[in-house]
Amino acid sequence: MELVFVTGNIDKVREIDHLLGENFKIKYLKDLGFDEEIPEIYPTLEENASAKAFYIYERFKVDCFADDSGLEVEYLNNQPGVYSARFAEIEENIKFSSKKALTEANIEKLLSLLKGKDFRKARFRTVISLLLGGEEYRFEGAVEGEITEEKRGEEGFGYDPVFVPAGYGKTFAQMSLDEKNKISHRSIAFGKLVEFLSNRQDLLK
Ligand code: IMP
Repeated sequence: MELVFVTGNIDKVREIDHLLGENFKIKYLKDLGFDEEIPEIYPTLEENASAKAFYIYERFKVDCFADDSGLEVEYLNNQPGVYSARFAEIEENIKFSSKKALTEANIEKLLSLLKGKDFRKARFRTVISLLLGGEEYRFEGAVEGEITEEKRGEEGFGYDPVFVPAGYGKTFAQMSLDEKNKISHRSIAFGKLVEFLSNRQDLLK
């Protein structure tokens, strides 16, 4: 059974392919010869995940799924949310030349907005939109936690150095990948997708 993962990131594809096992063949955008940017223009993770999946479904008429993730900080009315990847560029009229510089600036902006605040609750959330025969199924994973006052740890990516999951005394960046994967928003959402697909093979062509 073939499913297209609407992503250009081969690492994400390998991870899900490994979880789904032999019964599924996961393809990704490169396999379709598709290398355009799909615009992510909506204000919610749900709408962006859906829009990406429908974009590819309508173009290629293939069963597919897309994901969208972000950090939601309660004091900031759940921002940066869909803008997590380029938080420091939003409303600032700056373009960062490297991903590393942008990540640093994103974290700095977040910490400065929360400076002196005690209320630091936040969550990472992932939404997956799966389209089978044009019918949509959604899956969500979230991990609750808090934003630290300064960066801690070297592992991971994005906001990992400033996010401590609830019940843990260390940031995601102080955890090994295995440790993070046991509790992360992405693993939870993909776990639900895998469970659904494994139980509902009748829906697949
Ligand atoms: P994406 O939808 O998976 O590309 O995630 C969008 C953005 O959210 C990333 O560029 C990061 O800034 C942030 N983000 C999502 N997941 C994580 C995570 O596990 N750790 C740190 N940052 C994350």
